[in-house]
Amino acid sequence: MEREDVNGAAAQNCADKAGVAGKVIAVTGAAGVLCRALCEDFLRHGAFVALIGRHMDKLEALREELAAKGLTAAISVEADVLDRKAVEAALATILAKWGRIDILVNGAGGNHPKGTTPAEQMEPTTPVEDTFFGMNEEGFSHVFNLNLTGTVIPCQVFGKAMCDAGKGVILNFCSMASFHPLTKVGAYGAAKAAVANFTCWLATHLAPMGIRVNALAPGFFVSDQNRFLLIAKDGSGYTARGNKVIAHTPMRRFGEPNDLCGAARFLVSDEAGFITGVVLPVDGGFIAHSGV
Ligand SMILES: NC(=O)c1ccc[n+]([C@@H]2O[C@H](COP(=O)([O-])OP(=O)(O)OC[C@H]3O[C@@H](n4cnc5c(N)ncnc54)[C@H](O)[C@@H]3O)[C@@H](O)[C@H]2O)c1
Repeated sequence: MEREDVNGAAAQNCADKAGVAGKVIAVTGAAGVLCRALCEDFLRHGAFVALIGRHMDKLEALREELAAKGLTAAISVEADVLDRKAVEAALATILAKWGRIDILVNGAGGNHPKGTTPAEQMEPTTPVEDTFFGMNEEGFSHVFNLNLTGTVIPCQVFGKAMCDAGKGVILNFCSMASFHPLTKVGAYGAAKAAVANFTCWLATHLAPMGIRVNALAPGFFVSDQNRFLLIAKDGSGYTARGNKVIAHTPMRRFGEPNDLCGAARFLVSDEAGFITGVVLPVDGGFIAHSGV
């Protein structure tokens, strides 16, 4: 790939300003519901963005959609975050294109029905297949590994390059389940609690190297992975669980992807230069509310 100069005077002027202008940002899970909004926002604020994901066709469709809006400083890079060699190759592609990596956003992750129990609680009459004891071990491991190991591997690969450069920022994705378990999604909650713990651990470990590590904890945003839990199949409204979430959310709505942009941009920018090891809820007050 041809090397592009991102250290020229124009970029340097931008890089001196607060925000993400002139920064080289890698986003995993870029074509997902939440991260595509972040990618667009980063580009609108003058960043260079590597769209990383498993499916080149989806990444290219996103890149073209962004380019049609005049946001041309993006490249598509195919990599599975669980495949270390592919992640290393993704980093090499970014370094070949832009010469450095400033920011990593670990957006790849999510839940899967196979790591979920249909029953919220087990009663004596609950069919066993709907309980923890019917949960498929492969499904549990898939969800756990995707969220935790799929964060750890890019942190190791990209974090090392940042350490070599003496600076860098990592932003992980936690969830409401990082703070309190949510019924049904046991594997997902265990993984996201681990991501929160790992975020604080890595922030401590890498602070002397000039690397900051934080996480966003989005509240409830409707996406492909949780639609089946929140929205009725026939589209007639929310599920009982969806209604419960809304009732527990002081702002009385689900999040919109753009709700995350300001928080993400702030945490990865130099304006947050003394902030590391935080897990920031962006949740319409869900965590703040006791339920009573
Ligand atoms: N949507 C919500 O309400 C919500 C709430 C809290 C946290 N989150 C977290 O936010 C992040 C983004 O979620 P989303 O709602 O946009 O989900 P999404 O499913 O729309 O996006 C996830 C993206 O990750 C990609 N991905 C999956 N496995 C991958 C792998 N092995 N390698 C590379 N890419 C892979 C998917 O293809 C998809 O593009 C996830 O970590 C999710 O757990 C979401």
